[in-house]
Amino acid sequence: MQQTADPLSAADRGVVRMRVTRNDRWYPLVHIAARAGWINDPNGLVHLSGRYHVYFQHNPFGSQWGLMHWGHVSSADLVHWRHEPIALAPELEAESDGVFSGSAVALPDRHGIAVLYTGHRWLAPGLARQVQCLATSTDATTFVRHGVVIEPPEQMTDFRDPKVWRTGNRWYLVLGASPLDPADGRRHAEVWLYSSDLQGPGALRRWRFEGVLYRSPIDEVFMAECPDFFPLGDRWVLSYCAMGTHPHGYLDRNVNNARYVVGEWAPGRAFTPVTGEFPCDWGHSYYAPQTMQSPDGRRLVWGWMGSFGRPEPVAQSDGWCGQLTVPRELDLGPGDAVLTRPVRELTALRRSTCGLGPITVPANTERSLAADIPGAAEIELSLDLAHSDAERITLAVHRTPDGHQTLVVWDGQSGRGHLDRGSSGAGDRGSRSAPCAPDADGLLRLRIVLDRGSVEVFVGDGDQVISSMVYPPEGPRAAAICAECGDARITALRIHHLDAIF
Ligand code: FRU
Repeated sequence: MQQTADPLSAADRGVVRMRVTRNDRWYPLVHIAARAGWINDPNGLVHLSGRYHVYFQHNPFGSQWGLMHWGHVSSADLVHWRHEPIALAPELEAESDGVFSGSAVALPDRHGIAVLYTGHRWLAPGLARQVQCLATSTDATTFVRHGVVIEPPEQMTDFRDPKVWRTGNRWYLVLGASPLDPADGRRHAEVWLYSSDLQGPGALRRWRFEGVLYRSPIDEVFMAECPDFFPLGDRWVLSYCAMGTHPHGYLDRNVNNARYVVGEWAPGRAFTPVTGEFPCDWGHSYYAPQTMQSPDGRRLVWGWMGSFGRPEPVAQSDGWCGQLTVPRELDLGPGDAVLTRPVRELTALRRSTCGLGPITVPANTERSLAADIPGAAEIELSLDLAHSDAERITLAVHRTPDGHQTLVVWDGQSGRGHLDRGSSGAGDRGSRSAPCAPDADGLLRLRIVLDRGSVEVFVGDGDQVISSMVYPPEGPRAAAICAECGDARITALRIHHLDAIF
């Protein structure tokens, strides 16, 4: 399927225009992506005058990472989205090599929004100057620049990604820093905290350094990109993207890895973790999550489904690359675990549903579920593990006539779920795995969001998530379920066909 896409709308100001041919074979239907070109991190999440605004790192000139702009989409309901003109293009000298990641807040008294972002400039190959800049907007579309508001310390090349919020009568901001520790001669990943007056001439312009909020406990981690810090239940959650991790076991398998830690914090106090660090998502394609509060008080999060350093076939040939996850909502679960589920609004996309169950899939047999699941779909699956003796239960999706498929596996021996791209089709392969335990009644619920080029698996109440890009060949996409070394009892299985979000 070919479509000619104009990556910039007519309203874009002063930006070179180009036309590209977009191949839609893997272009998402229920995920935010640019009309063409590259995207990475979600930025500037904010709700203003009845609309959600999601910005994102965007190279409109090609489908590889490059000169970063802020792309923009908006929605009244988190379900139907509209492409907006590019919001921020490099303008100031301080941002001449990219308008990097940042965040937004709604200003008091309905005065629009403010965005804090990183201005990036290369001084020499591998040596950057990164400053934090302020811009404001009354309509979330057209921005007024207010220049640099936080300068980097001497010789700190990685100093970026401000996340701003309000607590009480002050603005606060965290950013990622990478100071050299003279004690061991190494750079360490830190999250720095700043604060500013709520109102008056210094508001959001003059920032006071409050101190180091957090230092990564892992020695080799040298930078904490895209930190976020937000209240959840009666705790505070700090998430950040660790650069310099090495894979160990099931953990840290991506080039860089998004993690979170839960603790206690109040203005003027230190952040005291009450948990260790956990992965935000176990999949191949999850990075740079950013959260916002919805008007009804929920904590929403989007992540970038992509990665640096791994081949994405769309970048070579399809005129676009990168999508965000579906919007998700976070809750604090038992034991201070962060639960991650698709936002409840997502059910509004369900166009038609077919279901079956309860059924038993006999040992070592397979049951076909659909000859073709075209477009995007959500599969809800309840496995009655208390009444199953299967060793493995496998849901095959994106199964094409030439034998390619992606597997969502419950594996009783390891007590884990796997998203296996070993025979998915094009691009990077590999299997990713997350703990996957049934509830007290022996029921294991899975929700699986399928798009043309991605699979997201939500376990239980959102206890774990595995998100990966997958690139199946063209043709009908069948689904089937199979039980191995024992029977699988399925209490319910529903396939919801989803409408497109744009
Ligand atoms: C994370 C990141 C950010 C930076 C942006 C640049 O993916 O490297 O730290 O601001 O991407 O596009």
